[in-house]
Amino acid sequence: MCGIIGAVLCEGGAGALVDTLGEGLRRLEYRGYDSAGMALVGGDKTIRRARRPGRVRELEQDLGALREGDARTGIAHTRWATHGAPSEANAHPHICNGAVAVVCNGIVENHEELRRAQTEAGFRFTSQTDTEVVAHEICAQVQDGRDLLGAVQAAAAKLKGAYAIGAVAAGEPGRLVGARRGSPLIVGIADGGALIVSDVPALLHVTRDYLVLEEGDVVDIVDGAFTVYDAAGSEVQRELRKSGGDSGAVELGNYRHYMEKEIFEQGRAVADTLEGRLSGGHILEEMFGAGSGALFDRVKFVKCIACGTSFYAAMVARHWFESCGVPCDVEIASEFRYRRHTVPDGALVVAVSQSGETIDTLEALRHARRIGYRDALCICNVAESSLVRESDFVLLTHAGREIGVASTKAFTTQLTALLLLVIALGRRAALAAAAESELVAELRALPTAVARALELNAAVAAVARRFADKRHALYLGRGAHYPVALEGALKLKEISYIHAEAYPAGELKHGPLALVDNDMPVVAVAPNNELLVKIKSNIQEVRARGGQLLVFTAEGAGIRGGDGVTVVEVPSVGDAVSPIVFTVPLQLLAYHVATIKGTDIDKPRNLAKAVTVE
Ligand code: G6P
Repeated sequence: MCGIIGAVLCEGGAGALVDTLGEGLRRLEYRGYDSAGMALVGGDKTIRRARRPGRVRELEQDLGALREGDARTGIAHTRWATHGAPSEANAHPHICNGAVAVVCNGIVENHEELRRAQTEAGFRFTSQTDTEVVAHEICAQVQDGRDLLGAVQAAAAKLKGAYAIGAVAAGEPGRLVGARRGSPLIVGIADGGALIVSDVPALLHVTRDYLVLEEGDVVDIVDGAFTVYDAAGSEVQRELRKSGGDSGAVELGNYRHYMEKEIFEQGRAVADTLEGRLSGGHILEEMFGAGSGALFDRVKFVKCIACGTSFYAAMVARHWFESCGVPCDVEIASEFRYRRHTVPDGALVVAVSQSGETIDTLEALRHARRIGYRDALCICNVAESSLVRESDFVLLTHAGREIGVASTKAFTTQLTALLLLVIALGRRAALAAAAESELVAELRALPTAVARALELNAAVAAVARRFADKRHALYLGRGAHYPVALEGALKLKEISYIHAEAYPAGELKHGPLALVDNDMPVVAVAPNNELLVKIKSNIQEVRARGGQLLVFTAEGAGIRGGDGVTVVEVPSVGDAVSPIVFTVPLQLLAYHVATIKGTDIDKPRNLAKAVTVE
């Protein structure tokens, strides 16, 4: 999703500035975007700009002209289209009257009203974006005699919605002003320069020192020195932080795509997520941090909030929580944040997110606090994310950086981390010590089980050919494996663009069975548990209508292949971790179908890795 980098560099000239901003754009690419642009302010008090729909590498062809001259201030942006198609005209930076250039993340909700007023005032619009009004508003303030800082502060006061802004002015060549409300903005502090970025990894090629702007803050960077002001305009100090993040690019190695690499990293990622968190037949509660014991003692109800794949992880966890005697409810963050409801006593809100920057999840967490949730815990993969900063308790998944837009190792490590949380709360409810030991034993065996599931790669690649020319697919699962079916269907639609829907298998006859014919592949998730006999019946219902089945079942479950039924046997594991192991072949299936179709697997069309707008 949209990304911002801006910098004032006192040394190195325009070439170094273009390189710094360009590398920042490459580091923001993983978020997903469909156009990119850059603008520099020269010592001659002019703004030069390059913008393009498409990839950053395409924009790089246009950056040569920007390298000439003595510019030391610039802003750059990756845009994920919301208002207006991905085109050059809609790409950021937006320039107003040659005087002000602006990049903006988020959505300006009162843009129509501002556009009307600005049009009447004589401003001419050249894009369909909601953010061009920001450039005009700042420009109007500059024309009224304000300096860039005063202009951004005055303009920000008129904006509604969630946004982060970076602005430069032709008349002030060494100045860069940033402002945030709702969307994150980070200030990087380097020798002889300072930067603004929307995401910490985008500044690690320059510096590890940074601070996070708070709601309503404005940062004024002049010739590499910076000052932060709060929403009331008072100068404030924000905590200086040092990033421990990996500054290098993630290498692809021998893999064709990051998604493939990340699928195959799952044995290691799960092992890393468990590292130092188990002891004998127990979990070590220290992983949740100081005060967590007292927290867990008072928890009587768990509310999980999440989006996308993370939501499906929480859906699996609900089965685990409830089977350990912990009442649990799971809700899509974008629904929860606008819903009134009663908060039960002893309620803990658990936000699950790979990125920790998904705006709906962040807003849902804030909403939870407003309506009376006293305690918030997050399960997150990014230590330096907004969600981690805003949560009282944190359990990090140690998946490592996930680049592929379609989430894989984040999901299996979220499930691993959630199971640790289930044990911590379950041992205070109906989970007996012996049962805890069994769960811990299942967790210890998990990395090996995942590695064995990955050995199904060739078998799954072979069946994937049958899906490549299909337009639709149905996925079926039951119990804790229903969310696994949902996740499998999501993977297929995200990267192969085949319409795929998952149903609880028992629901088949209440509608979706009408879709089944010999052109509708049906994927069934059939572990060897107490629901096996039920899903076997559902498989027969599909077969009786000519449906072509691909059944992922456990070794020894007794489902045999034959006419219209292909069986892939998944390693047999304990009941609790079974959803994690069954996820692996479903990821492989989607991956192989997409490779056959030749789609852009790591950056599927229209999707973003970190969804920072509503
Ligand atoms: C986007 C990503 C998904 C992800 C979802 C939630 O849609 O493409 O892969 O599951 O956001 O993201 P989060 O970072 O909060 O887990």
